[in-house]
Amino acid sequence: MTISATSATPATSNWQGAQGVKIVTKNFGVPDSHKLATYRARGGWEAFRKSAGMAPAEIVDEVKKSNLRGRGGAGFPTGMKWSFVPKEARTVYLVVNADESEPGTCKDRELLAYDPHLLIEGMAIASYAIGCKHAYIYIRGEMMREAKIVQAAIDEAYAAGLLGSDHPVAGGRTFRFDITLHRGAGAYICGEETALLNSLEGKRGWPRLKPPFPAVKGLFQQATVVNNVETLMNVPEIVQKGGAWFAGLGLGKSGGTRIVCVSGHVKKPGVYELPMGIPVRALIQDVCGGIPGGRAIKGVIPGGTSMPPLDASELDIPIEFDALMTDARIKDVEVQRGLPFDLGNGRRLKTMAGSGGIVVFDESTDVVALCARIMRFYAHESCGQCTPCREGTGWLARVCTRLAAGDGKPGDVELLGNVANGIAGNTICALGEAAAWPMMGFLTKFRSEFEAKIRKAA
Ligand SMILES: Cc1cc2nc3c(=O)[nH]c(=O)nc-3n(C[C@H](O)[C@H](O)[C@H](O)COP(=O)(O)O)c2cc1C
Repeated sequence: MTISATSATPATSNWQGAQGVKIVTKNFGVPDSHKLATYRARGGWEAFRKSAGMAPAEIVDEVKKSNLRGRGGAGFPTGMKWSFVPKEARTVYLVVNADESEPGTCKDRELLAYDPHLLIEGMAIASYAIGCKHAYIYIRGEMMREAKIVQAAIDEAYAAGLLGSDHPVAGGRTFRFDITLHRGAGAYICGEETALLNSLEGKRGWPRLKPPFPAVKGLFQQATVVNNVETLMNVPEIVQKGGAWFAGLGLGKSGGTRIVCVSGHVKKPGVYELPMGIPVRALIQDVCGGIPGGRAIKGVIPGGTSMPPLDASELDIPIEFDALMTDARIKDVEVQRGLPFDLGNGRRLKTMAGSGGIVVFDESTDVVALCARIMRFYAHESCGQCTPCREGTGWLARVCTRLAAGDGKPGDVELLGNVANGIAGNTICALGEAAAWPMMGFLTKFRSEFEAKIRKAA
């Protein structure tokens, strides 16, 4: 199979043809990859030079053509998001989401540590395209090492005149922009884009009601684009090689490669940049060396722990945004009625590719204990603003924990389903769903294991 350079929407996964293509990890392992001199010696800032000869709208079009979708979780088309910035906006901000707190996800910290200049160049191109003069990087508080590396890279870029200085651009104009690095205090909720903006403004990290969306009213009430680290690091290569090339690497409406962070019961866990659309089974067997001890696989969390799990019958699904939403199976049981699986227009949410955090669990796993651990995380991280999430995540955590301890009561399984249904769709942000969706997924796919815990306790 060869890489298609023209097709923007290949009908089948090109994952075998795209094997070995590295875009965002291309400088991993290169000595001093975090230094500007190394980055430039390897072609860094050439893409910005090329983009400076283009009109901003041309860059947005190229990113649209590339089928780049946000790598922060929701998979929203990046070019489309950029085009939502109102033409008449006088002040536009770009904010990089480097909060990375979703359990199972640990890619952005590697990207920041190995190649901060790729992010800075991606930010420069994006800022020019959307009309931003001052961009921010919001980095999770615990990432102290990465914050130092990124700040040193920003300082180098200023010293080299790449930041804070005029660049000649198309139409005889100039472009100049600044970057500020802001350290968060380590809260999962501050990864949600509007909570992040509040935190950046010095306020409590509580999500805002949408609309208005950040593209219209974001940071300091101005038009703002929020993008994930990995998303922006794809932009220089899209400018250099073209949107069609990038789209041709992917599957369906998802272009490029995908970083996955594989943990759990595999022989070779790690952070891998892989072709978009690689099937789950190929990832586990061919890339990660299979399951240790020859044990059978029980299930896989495909996109961070906020995503419903796949069971062992679903391993041939490609790891791609739309495939995971449409191909994953949900059994017809009571707890799945209504939200969130019914998305309207006949579409039902199955699972999602999320943030690329893939957790593999084998037959030795106590699924109820696993689910209880996940629920305790979301209960702890709920910001408390919305009652269904504040109270509901606590209920899910407590009931799952008592079930896992073999102390479940008759009716607990139904209670979990009802509480999850009561959270989903009833909160300001998706942290509520981050607990409710996996809860429903675990209940529908592994219900007998939850019921067995009650039988033991009865
Ligand atoms: C509770 C919650 C936590 C989130 N955490 C992160 C995060 O740590 N990093 C991230 O990039 N996106 C996170 N997101 C998604 C962001 O709200 C936003 O969609 C994303 O940063 C947009 O960038 P993208 O379009 O490039 O993916 C989170 C969303 C929710 C609801």
